[in-house]
Amino acid sequence: MIEFDKVSKQFPDGTKAVDNISFRVEPGELFVLIGPSGCGKTTTMKMINRLIDTTSGKISINDENILHKDLHKLRWEIGYVLQQIALFPHMTIAENIAIVPELKKWEKKRTEKRIDELMEMTGLDPDTYRNRLPKELSGGQQQRVGVIRALAGDPDILLMDEPFSALDPISREQLQKDIASLQRDIKKTIVFVTHDMDEALQLGDRIAVMQEGKIVQMDTPDNLLEHPADDFVKSFIGERKDMWETRVEAAMMPVPEPLPPDLPSVNAELSLREAVRVLQESEKEQAAVLKENKIAGVITNKSVLAYLMPGQKKEGGRK
Ligand SMILES: Nc1ncnc2c1ncn2[C@@H]1O[C@H](COP(=O)(O)OP(=O)(O)O)[C@@H](O)[C@H]1O
Ligand SMILES: [Mg+2]
Repeated sequence: MIEFDKVSKQFPDGTKAVDNISFRVEPGELFVLIGPSGCGKTTTMKMINRLIDTTSGKISINDENILHKDLHKLRWEIGYVLQQIALFPHMTIAENIAIVPELKKWEKKRTEKRIDELMEMTGLDPDTYRNRLPKELSGGQQQRVGVIRALAGDPDILLMDEPFSALDPISREQLQKDIASLQRDIKKTIVFVTHDMDEALQLGDRIAVMQEGKIVQMDTPDNLLEHPADDFVKSFIGERKDMWETRVEAAMMPVPEPLPPDLPSVNAELSLREAVRVLQESEKEQAAVLKENKIAGVITNKSVLAYLMPGQKKEGGRK
């Protein structure tokens, strides 16, 4: 668990990069910081592993002030992925990944096993890639190695600072999907920085929108879309708000077998907004979508979100 308590950072030249922010990231949560360039995202991130020290306020990890922790231990317990990961060019992929486990003095066998496991988990065949040099991998594959390297020492916390923004759209989409599914398995506490709202909505359990060093809204993806706090947040969300007026059938999935009992139902002509309200009030996982009094499909919170996010067509019904 990471907690910021009224944290500010002013640089020696007077720049107030972070201005009195407080938030708590729960264990296993993927927490997104989003905002325009220069709003203080990277500074916030770097204060967690003390690459930058705070000017005022307190940051704790598992209820311990980070200033009281051993600096090396703190850094080893926190994986860090940057936009441009710097793999060591003369070292093989396996050697690059083994850096933190070796610092931690893991047994060689354990390190090797961990490398294979993580490479397999992220779709890099160990037999093919283990002994290659970074330059023998594509940009997307190198970034994947960056993620693996950050995870190698089995840190509790992962900091990811615009990890995919230098990639082409296809690698980027693939890595976003990989991170989402990886997170379902490993459940790390992740702070993820992006300036891309689609990425934030797709990955975040919660999203904090930053502007000029302050957090202007902190909410779940659904609430952020549904209730943007002000015009700044609205502008970040762009036109997507109106998509809630789309007919619910757009976000429909095939009827599952067997059909669960006691499903709430919505009419196919209802708006997404109204349909989601019915779903939420029912406290069920899914709702049947009725067309001419027949069940034409079902919606879930996920299928609706998938519809609302471009590039995420897998679970939604968008053709
Ligand atoms: N070392 C530094 N000295 C002075 N100002 C800095 C320094 N690092 C960052 N800043 C300033 O702090 C603000 C926030 O920067 P940063 O956290 O990097 O923003 P972001 O990651 O959201 O783009 C910017 O105005 C930036 O110019
Ligand atoms: Mg930055």
